[in-house]
Amino acid sequence: MPTTETATPAAALDLTHIRAQFPSLAQTVNSHPATFLDGPGGTQVPQRVIDAISNYLDRDNANTGGAYATSRHTDAMIAAARAAMADFLHCAADEVVFGPNMTTLTYAMSRAIGRELKPGDEIVVTRLDHDANVSPWLAIAEEKGVTVRWAEIHEEDCTLDMADLAAKMNSKTKLVAAGYASNAVGTINPVKEIVRLAHAAGALAYIDAVHYAPHGLIDVTALDCDFLACSTYKFFGPHMGVLFGKRAHLQRLRPYKVRPNTNAIPNCWEWGTLNHECLAGIAACVEYIADLGRGSGSRLPHPARFSKGGNDAAATSGLNEGGETERRAAIAVAYQAIHEHERGLLERIMLGLKTIPRLKIYGITDPARYAERCPTLAVRIENHTPLELATQLGDRGIFTWDGNYYALNLTEKLDVEKSGGFLRIGLVHYNTAEEVDRLLIALSEISET
Ligand SMILES: Cc1ncc(COP(=O)(O)O)c(C=O)c1O
Repeated sequence: MPTTETATPAAALDLTHIRAQFPSLAQTVNSHPATFLDGPGGTQVPQRVIDAISNYLDRDNANTGGAYATSRHTDAMIAAARAAMADFLHCAADEVVFGPNMTTLTYAMSRAIGRELKPGDEIVVTRLDHDANVSPWLAIAEEKGVTVRWAEIHEEDCTLDMADLAAKMNSKTKLVAAGYASNAVGTINPVKEIVRLAHAAGALAYIDAVHYAPHGLIDVTALDCDFLACSTYKFFGPHMGVLFGKRAHLQRLRPYKVRPNTNAIPNCWEWGTLNHECLAGIAACVEYIADLGRGSGSRLPHPARFSKGGNDAAATSGLNEGGETERRAAIAVAYQAIHEHERGLLERIMLGLKTIPRLKIYGITDPARYAERCPTLAVRIENHTPLELATQLGDRGIFTWDGNYYALNLTEKLDVEKSGGFLRIGLVHYNTAEEVDRLLIALSEISET
């Protein structure tokens, strides 16, 4: 049996209040409570996101740019979604591009960037990344005669080898593609340093923040990255992708697009008709996170001051003393609370997993280095394939994932690809200590069989 009693209890979030907002969390499977440890594959959504999507279809279902009410409502809804994502990422609204998912947006942007590439140029990708931030660059490199350089990892803790990454850059490097956090082993990369190195070499930095987004605050302004992509379905929203691009790049690069589509950014990067009902869920999902920071579900104080009266410039501009909107400040507080709660869960699950015989954890396991990882764990148990483990857990209502989750270069590098990859356990803020214990007991029992 795993020992978990020394772990810190969750304190930062009011889980009862939070979980009541997610209808799917109340399901049962084979009379077991459904335990969603599959967040890295996609998170559950709060009722307000479901309502926003269905209200849009109920009342405003229309295309954009029409001279009538529902079309105008649709335009306003998309503008609100863009403003919400601008607060979420800390950029301007015209630097936010929507698309079906991160992979599609990255392929589209890689093709536009590819117009500026020539034989002899170089691109750097990493072994730690999800293939969505690798294959698009391999494809454009092949097309344009560009050399691809791979940044390696430290196999013992699944961290990026930063010295190797730096060594792979030179004056020919035109783009560095790196992840914010690994969707397989949870490692958080030093993204600001990666961007700095890329810029020092004169290259663009393209960051995949899909896995990081549910766990940590993203600040593209502070990172100074050129592009950053994420997907709202990984942070409690609908199935959509979002791409931040610095305004100068979005204006300079030429998108592949149909002629009648505007040349104005960001719309020139959005092709055809988007999934409007899902876009309608985006502001709701960002507001859900912001509300955690406003005190609904979080027990942390709201630090930002938003003066309402007088001649205070901040009050009239709607910005606080740090130049942030109220929503941005609330999102920052929410992520402090999320981080604190997830840290408690990480400590608890690590303590328990380390007591299970024949179980190996991949990635960072030293508690002193937990700040360098998310609560996303890749494990294997001797004599059980990851699929067997996931299936047995699934029968008990515990949802995990098996395989490579498209972090193919990592599973190949660690030589687990041919034997089924890893079992992935992904915790997000709506998970509880009880759910962690349920998993630990189940894994412990399965490991004995
Ligand atoms: C780290 C990471 N990057 C990229 C992707 C691809 O995202 P999308 O499904 O939005 O294309 C995923 C999806 O699992 C992911 O985990």
